[in-house]
Amino acid sequence: MKTPDEVLQNCKRPEGEIGEQTIRRMNESHAELTTWGFSHFDVEDSAAVLDIGCGGGKALKQLSQRTRKGKLFGIDYSETSVRVAKQENEADVASGKMEVVHGSVSDLPFRDGMFDLVTTVESYYFWPDLAHDFREVRRVMKPGGIFAIVAEMYNHDSQSEEDKYIVKTLKMHNNTPEELKTMLKEAGFMEVTVDTRKEKGWLCAIATK
Ligand SMILES: C[S@@+](CC[C@H](N)C(=O)[O-])C[C@H]1O[C@@H](n2cnc3c(N)ncnc32)[C@H](O)[C@@H]1O
Repeated sequence: MKTPDEVLQNCKRPEGEIGEQTIRRMNESHAELTTWGFSHFDVEDSAAVLDIGCGGGKALKQLSQRTRKGKLFGIDYSETSVRVAKQENEADVASGKMEVVHGSVSDLPFRDGMFDLVTTVESYYFWPDLAHDFREVRRVMKPGGIFAIVAEMYNHDSQSEEDKYIVKTLKMHNNTPEELKTMLKEAGFMEVTVDTRKEKGWLCAIATK
């Protein structure tokens, strides 16, 4: 029997049976948040797109539906996430439209200037070094490309006690919109806007290279 904290740890790095159940559940529970976050940008018909911390692959599926001739990549440092994301997007992986690779945001296995769009949903909280990792994301983006951070929690004055407990237990980044804006600008992004839905506690940061 897993403790609630062990289940929570599987949000950070899903592994094994519990990890698989967790990311499959997140595929459903993050759908509305993902749709809201992704409504902040267009996806060009031949866009090169990367989703970081792709988990069970539902965000990749949404992105694929928005680009007919695009090329999509997912990356995750959990082998379990990579396996489930590939299953979730079997047809796109088989056709070569999508690749899902194992790796960390801190050392992306992609060349400079490759992507028009980079997304991350519910993952940045766990990245080891935001200053470095935001610069690494920027490195793989085309000039003018967009980086979208979508999160269902951020630091604000009415953040729930439950969220505060999760942040503490998982040692997560829990930034205010202003802090995120500053960090993204310091990483070299030209323009940064942050939208929130305070009643839900959701955040979407859009940073342009
Ligand atoms: C809470 S899950 C979210 C999964 C998916 N994006 C979703 O919205 O359902 C966080 C995911 O980020 C991945 N992740 C966390 N830190 C990472 C890192 N440093 N590099 C790559 N992936 C990471 C985890 O393995 C996990 O699959």
